[in-house]
Amino acid sequence: MALQFRLRPLEPRDLDHLWTMNWDPLPRQISTFYLLCAIGHPRFCSVAVDGNGRIVAVLLTTVDEAGQWLYVNHLIVDESCRGGGVGTALMNNLESQCRAAGLRRIWLLTGVDVEPFYAVMGYRRDDSFMPPAARELMAARRPDALILSKVL
Ligand SMILES: CC(C)(COP(=O)(O)OP(=O)(O)OC[C@H]1O[C@@H](n2cnc3c(N)ncnc32)[C@H](O)[C@@H]1OP(=O)(O)O)[C@@H](O)C(=O)NCCC(=O)NCCS
Repeated sequence: MALQFRLRPLEPRDLDHLWTMNWDPLPRQISTFYLLCAIGHPRFCSVAVDGNGRIVAVLLTTVDEAGQWLYVNHLIVDESCRGGGVGTALMNNLESQCRAAGLRRIWLLTGVDVEPFYAVMGYRRDDSFMPPAARELMAARRPDALILSKVL
C-alpha cells in the first residue's frame, strides 16, 4: 500500500520528537545545531507526517537574508518510509515556496551516494558556494561530500 503522508511547516513543538530521530549520517552535534537554528528561523522548514500524525521526515534550511538563495541544512526521511516519495515531495514543496518568495537558487551538501536522488530533480555539482578555504577543509574532512545547486 502506498505511504500516506502530508506536509506541513515545522512547529516548535516538533522539536521534542526531532531530538529523538536518527539523524545519520549527520553527526549529532550538527543536527542539534541545525535544530536550534530552526527554532529561531522556521520559515522554509517543514515536516512530513503519516496518517497518525507521526513525523516521518524533516527538511531544515537556512535562507539568505538578501533573499537570493536557500541552503538545505538537512533532509531526512525515517528509514521505514524511504522510497515512498516523501523526500521528493518535501523538495518539490520547498522549491514552490522558494519560487513564490523570489529565491533564485537552492544549495545543498550531500554524499556521492545520494547524488542520484537530487540529480533527477535537476541538482548539479557546483563548488562556487564555498570559499576555497572551506572547500579544502571539506575535501579533507569529508572527501565523499558534494555541493549541489539548482537554479529555480
Ligand atoms: C535521500 C532521502 C532523503 C530520499 O528520500 P526518499 O523519501 O526515500 O526518496 P523518494 O522516495 O522521494 O525517492 C525518489 C527517487 O530517488 C531515489 N533515491 C532515493 N534515495 C536515494 C539514495 N539514497 N540514493 C540514490 N537514489 C535514491 C529513489 O529510488 C527514487 O527513484 P525512483 O522514483 O526511480 O524510484 C532518504 O533516503 C534519506 O533520508 N536518507 C538519509 C539521509 C540523507 O542522506 N539525506 C540527504 C542528505 S542532505
